[in-house]
Amino acid sequence: MAGYHALVLGGTGLIGQALLQRLLADPAWAQVTVLTRRALVGADGAPLTHPRLHQQQGSLDDMAEHADLFSVDQVFCCLGTTLRKAGSRDAFRRVDFDYCVEAARLGRRQGAEHFLVVSAVNANPRARVFYSRVKGEMEAAIQALDFPMLSIMQPSLLLGDRQEFRLGETLGAWSARALRPLAAFSRADWLPIEADTVAAAMQAAAKSPVPGCRRLRYDAMLSLQSGNVIPAA
Ligand SMILES: NC(=O)c1ccc[n+]([C@@H]2O[C@H](COP(=O)([O-])OP(=O)(O)OC[C@H]3O[C@@H](n4cnc5c(N)ncnc54)[C@H](OP(=O)(O)O)[C@@H]3O)[C@@H](O)[C@H]2O)c1
Repeated sequence: MAGYHALVLGGTGLIGQALLQRLLADPAWAQVTVLTRRALVGADGAPLTHPRLHQQQGSLDDMAEHADLFSVDQVFCCLGTTLRKAGSRDAFRRVDFDYCVEAARLGRRQGAEHFLVVSAVNANPRARVFYSRVKGEMEAAIQALDFPMLSIMQPSLLLGDRQEFRLGETLGAWSARALRPLAAFSRADWLPIEADTVAAAMQAAAKSPVPGCRRLRYDAMLSLQSGNVIPAA
């Protein structure tokens, strides 16, 4: 096998960095391309280099100018922002809907077989909560593109070593940990999950391709990480 070619969007983020490390350490990937607005740095703060890594810097507003980069086997989309960082609902939607859907359109047009995107457990196009509604609308718009394979990761709170402090996420993670014993009596979808587990599930999903659309929540991501195949929904 010649090896997969992949494009990663959001490679500087919490999940994106974990995913990138995993793909570069896995010989199944012959080339990993990353499109970012800033240079990638390694754990030592030095520019990240790797013989199978190709980096392209640019604004995602000009994504179509980089259409060639989307001629890959898989497009991994780990993009996202927060309302606080974005500064307005429009700016949030630009990242969490427009960029993600544009990436999917380009991937589909350029023949990518598998699109893997990070959404959220509460994604729902009819939700009253803006964040959940945007995520749900993003999922629906990408699903309508009819990829041969589509994997939608739906984590709850992400755990990991984030440089920036996010109060809401920190409080949410503490309370969810305290409530963890109750998980035995309900579905575990709402439990916080390590960003690296999401990344591992994306890597595993790419290597165990299943036709159609899969939505992967807590249990499914852990199961995929352990080597099980999760069928299409
Ligand atoms: N945080 C949580 O608890 C949580 C829970 C459920 C779902 N999610 C979802 O999971 C996904 C990944 O989360 P994460 O915590 O790994 O994200 P993150 O650490 O905030 O990283 C987001 C990525 O998106 C990029 N990005 C954001 N705005 C951009 C812009 N305007 N132009 C270009 N790139 C931009 C960032 O690039 P820069 O590094 O250049 O900013 C970064 O690579 C998101 O969609 C998020 O909504 C998160």
